[in-house]
Amino acid sequence: MPPDPADRGPSVLADLVGLMTCHTVAAALRLGVFDVLAGGPLPVAELAARTGTDPDALDVLLAPLTHAGYLDRIGDAYAATPVAVRDLAEDGHWATVLPLWLAMVGAQWPDLDTAARTGVPPAGFYPWLDRNPAERELFHTLQHRLATGLAAEVVEVVDLPPGARALLDVGGGEGAFGIAFCAPHPALTATVLDRPSVVGAGRERITAAGLADRMTMRAADLAGELHERDQDVVLLCNVVHGFAADRARALVAECARALRPGGILLVLETADRPGDDPAPGAERAFTGFFDLHLWHSQGGRIHPVPTLVDWLTGAGCHVRRAPLPRHPGHALLVATRVPPS
Ligand SMILES: C[S@@+](CC[C@H](N)C(=O)[O-])C[C@H]1O[C@@H](n2cnc3c(N)ncnc32)[C@H](O)[C@@H]1O
Repeated sequence: MPPDPADRGPSVLADLVGLMTCHTVAAALRLGVFDVLAGGPLPVAELAARTGTDPDALDVLLAPLTHAGYLDRIGDAYAATPVAVRDLAEDGHWATVLPLWLAMVGAQWPDLDTAARTGVPPAGFYPWLDRNPAERELFHTLQHRLATGLAAEVVEVVDLPPGARALLDVGGGEGAFGIAFCAPHPALTATVLDRPSVVGAGRERITAAGLADRMTMRAADLAGELHERDQDVVLLCNVVHGFAADRARALVAECARALRPGGILLVLETADRPGDDPAPGAERAFTGFFDLHLWHSQGGRIHPVPTLVDWLTGAGCHVRRAPLPRHPGHALLVATRVPPS
């Protein structure tokens, strides 16, 4: 029987439940419930004692999470499901992502309608991060973790130009890409540019990686022009999306100009998934909300890959897209600065 078209609309109730689930999971995270339950099921009374909570209140809080697949109720005990332990206990990926997105959306999205009316996004994301050190740490921890995974694949698929010695990582965060490139290439030195508030944590990561003699962190403002020159490799990884088209295009051109002829500029960006992409619906929907977040919080956008290719070609580069099978939601463009004829 064909599906009833009336069933194809949104479920406002499911979305509302999703919102409440997020807040409840975040509260359970703050109480350490998933860390404690990672050790095995516990009666409510003991779980309350271990998390410093009132047993009855904790029971009311946790009961709805059994419907959402986070917890199981076994007699008078709660158990975390294996997925909840993997994703939320200890350093689980979503233990960072969920509180960060809740804070960003809670603080910034109530005025989405105003931004839509005026057409002008408030764009105060990085100043907001700097005013909220806990969220700033979550943001950069998350970026560093994502970048470390991406960089492992990027380093595998990109050949450096012969004799490469100088790498510039523009908006390099805490240095994950610079570290991944410098570690296997002993002749390479790297300069990482980022906001002043990121420099200290970046230096700590570089020192921990044993690369303090070959890597430098420097404060820079990418809203202004870049004046670097003679680089063998320049990286723009997940940075272009933080800027509106005019500044993004200029930044790409400045990075291309920073290369010596024959040098390579790597542009890594979130890419729209193809229509036949088998990714779960939530992943495809997330890309649209991420685009909205970029526009609203930073004045940025997910610039489509063909646009990036146009900008790079216009900046005097030959461009190819390198496949990243382990990261289908990202596009890697390898742009070689054409030597003057
Ligand atoms: C999404 S993160 C990507 C970081 C890193 N390239 C990576 O792949 O993990 C964007 C980076 O750009 C930096 N950034 C954004 N606007 C900036 C600006 N105006 N000046 C300097 N850095 C900026 C942020 O601090 C952040 O580290």
